[in-house]
Amino acid sequence: MDDSFIRGLPKAELHLHLEGSFEPELMFAIARRNKIDIPFKSVEEVRRAYRFSSLQDFLDIYYRGAGVLRTEQDFYDLTLAYLRRVHGDGVRHVEVFFDPQTHTARGVVFATVADGILAALKDGQSQFGISAKLILCFLRHLGQDDAFATFRQAEPYFGRIVGVGLDSSEVGHPPSKFADVFASAGAAGLRRVAHAGEEGPAAYVWEALDVLQVDRVDHGNRSLDDPALVRRLSDEAMTLTVCPLSNLKLCVVNDLAQHPLKRMLDLGLRATVNSDDPAYFGGYVGDNFAVVSQALALSRSDIVTLARNSFLGSFLSEAEKLQHLAALDRYVAVPGA
Ligand code: ADE
Ligand code: ZN
Repeated sequence: MDDSFIRGLPKAELHLHLEGSFEPELMFAIARRNKIDIPFKSVEEVRRAYRFSSLQDFLDIYYRGAGVLRTEQDFYDLTLAYLRRVHGDGVRHVEVFFDPQTHTARGVVFATVADGILAALKDGQSQFGISAKLILCFLRHLGQDDAFATFRQAEPYFGRIVGVGLDSSEVGHPPSKFADVFASAGAAGLRRVAHAGEEGPAAYVWEALDVLQVDRVDHGNRSLDDPALVRRLSDEAMTLTVCPLSNLKLCVVNDLAQHPLKRMLDLGLRATVNSDDPAYFGGYVGDNFAVVSQALALSRSDIVTLARNSFLGSFLSEAEKLQHLAALDRYVAVPGA
């Protein structure tokens, strides 16, 4: 499939950790600005360290990288750099994650993080025409009490945060551990998403649906192990935010040619394509579309379905979704596109 068709295709990104878009060049610049030493001599050395054998292996490096972010300006620069980058990938709307506990645990106050990110999301709309929603992720390895403390710190921001998510080390931390904090988030009118079935089993996806009452499942790859779960996801038109390059780099799949994305589409699941942590996994959302389309020989119709699903699965209003879908139809209808 022609790369320019993919790059121009209007799309939304629904699974992106802002801290995972922290490119080594910016990391060096911010470390210098904050007078922090990092244990690398060059950008190349940082990139060479980005070889992972598992999710945990990656998370250890990811949290260390995020440690140089200190000021509101740092969070602003991080967020705006991401928006600038995906502007060239046809991205019209993003729903981005941030991990406040990674920062508050180091003494950075919640407002510093949230204010920097929110200011950049606003400027991203005016500079690049990209609309955005923000999702607060709880770190599952820290447990529910810590999640509740974060939830309380976030309360003044509930009008500016669309929902909560659940990320970090999956195995050993099932969604059910977070039942109460997710119930409180639902009662506060927040949307709910959770990473499930990335390294963890299909049972975690069931828990995300039944216990956390999620509106979307992040990853969800392991759902395909369970035919009854596939039926449930299909019947409910549940969105899966799939991340092909992440799955490859974290050894969730051994080879992109074996990636389950095509099977998901053929089973009628509402799969989307996303980058997860593009600075660490070697590609932004456009790259993810391009490499997975190539590896799985996706048809033009599959690729358009993935873009369509990204808007359908978003937290935009129905009217906004229709506007994006109409723009997508116009793009596809142009001869030669
Ligand atoms: N945090 C950042 N990226 C993540 C991923 N792929 N899975 C779980 N937690 C994460
Ligand atoms: Zn993720």
